[in-house]
Amino acid sequence: MAIEKVGVVGCGLMGSGIAQVAAQAGYPVTVREVSTQLLEKGLQSIEKNLGRLVEKGTIAAVDRDQIRGRLRGTTNVDDLKDCDIIIEAIIEQLPAKRELWSALDKICPKSAIFASNTSSLSITEMATFTQRPDRFLGLHFFNPVPVMKLVEVIRTIATDPKVFEEVVAFAGKLGKTPVRTTDRTGFIVNRLLVPYILDAVRALEEGVASIEDIDNSMKLGCGHPMGPLTLLDFVGLDTTYYIANIMFDEFKEKRFAPPPLLKRMVLAGWNGRKAGRGFYDYSDPAKPKAMQLT
Ligand code: CAA
Repeated sequence: MAIEKVGVVGCGLMGSGIAQVAAQAGYPVTVREVSTQLLEKGLQSIEKNLGRLVEKGTIAAVDRDQIRGRLRGTTNVDDLKDCDIIIEAIIEQLPAKRELWSALDKICPKSAIFASNTSSLSITEMATFTQRPDRFLGLHFFNPVPVMKLVEVIRTIATDPKVFEEVVAFAGKLGKTPVRTTDRTGFIVNRLLVPYILDAVRALEEGVASIEDIDNSMKLGCGHPMGPLTLLDFVGLDTTYYIANIMFDEFKEKRFAPPPLLKRMVLAGWNGRKAGRGFYDYSDPAKPKAMQLT
């Protein structure tokens, strides 16, 4: 069955981006949040992004109106029952995912495909919350979703190969470049990115260089768009700490172990850009200032 209608659960940073790109690609999209307030916040960020695209001349005002018209917000899970694919981007907690997937499994037809945007939890374990492990996979987008071209498509040992290829093609229709991977914690990107970011924190802890010099080294020496500590602030220290711990639990390898400085910053609530403070102070967001941490 072709994918014609898209459901997105969660309208936070990732969910709103996913809903936006799906609507921009021409799909009718129903996006669900737990409260009207969170839903409004997510829809406003889509509105802001689309407005920016109109201002830059990337899309016409009439396109924006059509994209808007394809998006429907709801707080009711039942409204997702006629979607051909449901992409989940809710909080990274297994009990919440279990509750959602088992509810959706009961109301959606057997043909519907379920995809999780998790960055670190087991897709296989999530599939066991449903009666459709053959139609369950991972679809991992990157932040900021409208900009980043990559999508990791993740199959478990139980995913039907036809369903997998259908979703690979769907990711292409969203204007993304899909890569195929398997259900190993961290998939491709975080397996490589997390140890790199953690090593940048270790380098800082060990006095190798300052925050700015570590960041500039990777920006100017390797052509990365952001240095690793700026990227950590961007992704969120709490999110990275959480992912690193799951990866450490899975592989028991030192390279995935969160360094003490990261743990202490998370305990202090210095979670990066969203908290106004991380490796940099964002009191003036246009001019972040490196913190004195060591
Ligand atoms: N939403 C939509 N568009 C955005 C955006 C956002 N949040 N932020 C930036 N943009 C757009 C801008 O409008 C601009 O568009 P145009 O080129 O059409 O004008 C473009 O992106 C570039 O933005 P800027 O000029 O403002 O700034 P920049 O050149 O520094 O780019 C960036 C910003 C795209 C975020 C870039 O710094 C970058 O690629 N950083 C690395 C991001 C990254 O590594 N993301 C992955 C994180 S890991 C993850 O997500 C997975 C996980 O599991 C943790």
